[in-house]
Amino acid sequence: MKLLRRTVILMTGLVATLTAHHAAAAPTPVAFPANFRSGVLYNVVDRDDRAEVHEQYTSHEAIEAARAGKPLPMGTDIVSANYRARLNAQGDPVRDPKGNLVAGELDRITVMEKHPGGGASYPEALRNGDWDFALFTPDGRVSTQVPISECLACHKPHQQLDYVKTYFAMAGKRVESHPAPVPAGAVVTTVMRFAVNPARLTVQAGTPVTWINADEPAHQFLVEGASAKTDYLLKGQTGTVRLREPGTYRYHDTFYPAVEALQGVIEVR
Ligand code: HEC
Repeated sequence: MKLLRRTVILMTGLVATLTAHHAAAAPTPVAFPANFRSGVLYNVVDRDDRAEVHEQYTSHEAIEAARAGKPLPMGTDIVSANYRARLNAQGDPVRDPKGNLVAGELDRITVMEKHPGGGASYPEALRNGDWDFALFTPDGRVSTQVPISECLACHKPHQQLDYVKTYFAMAGKRVESHPAPVPAGAVVTTVMRFAVNPARLTVQAGTPVTWINADEPAHQFLVEGASAKTDYLLKGQTGTVRLREPGTYRYHDTFYPAVEALQGVIEVR
């Protein structure tokens, strides 16, 4: 019975896919993945920076590929169902007994879909391999709230991760059990709940600057104008750069470049 119902759902999904492919000329060739919840929920991100909860789904095949450190297979769909966090009467996010945010209303659904020749219509400077990107309202209509060029620009730096920001979580890698030691004399900043603290650092030229990631998601810090960046930092990992030239440098997180609380300044004397 259960199997039968699943088959019916799959077939309905297939018909919807075919119809949508015919109906949608532009702006996106990606059909609304109505049955995404039948995939694997591999990751939940508490976006403390914007009071949202993001649930991410994909296929078993994609997860196997990520575990093996490989690019994800053709035909992969990744869906992020992005909810507003539930707020209390004071407007603060409600937390469950484990301290996690609680998903409220579904706000939007973002999709990455990989197929041969996908993304071919995007300019090379923006194209993310064979991935197409799409944004939908909760009821499955194409949304133009964010231009697809912005999706592409923000995911583009992560070619090494097959453009998938949550690749490590998909591979089951969340915590670093053998963190690199903090170098002697380093000036340290800590990452917690989508914020660096302190954001502004002053160091002598050549002094190691170290980020300690105490946050759930992976982060990576890039110092602008110095071609210096940390490795990908899982929870518990530390990353260090050394700046030799005096000056004022801004840094940001390559995963979350738009989050201001993850940006800062290093003053090198
Ligand atoms: C400013 C950066 C930024 C922009 C713009 C952006 N994303 Fe992402 N996206 C992220 C980050 C960071 C994650 C992982 C964590 C999370 O959900 O917060 C992510 C995760 C995803 C995922 C889950 C798979 C993955 O890569 O981890 C999908 C699917 C996705 N985004 C699609 C889109 C689509 C579609 C758009 C445009 C409508 C878009 N994104 C725009 C930063 C961005």
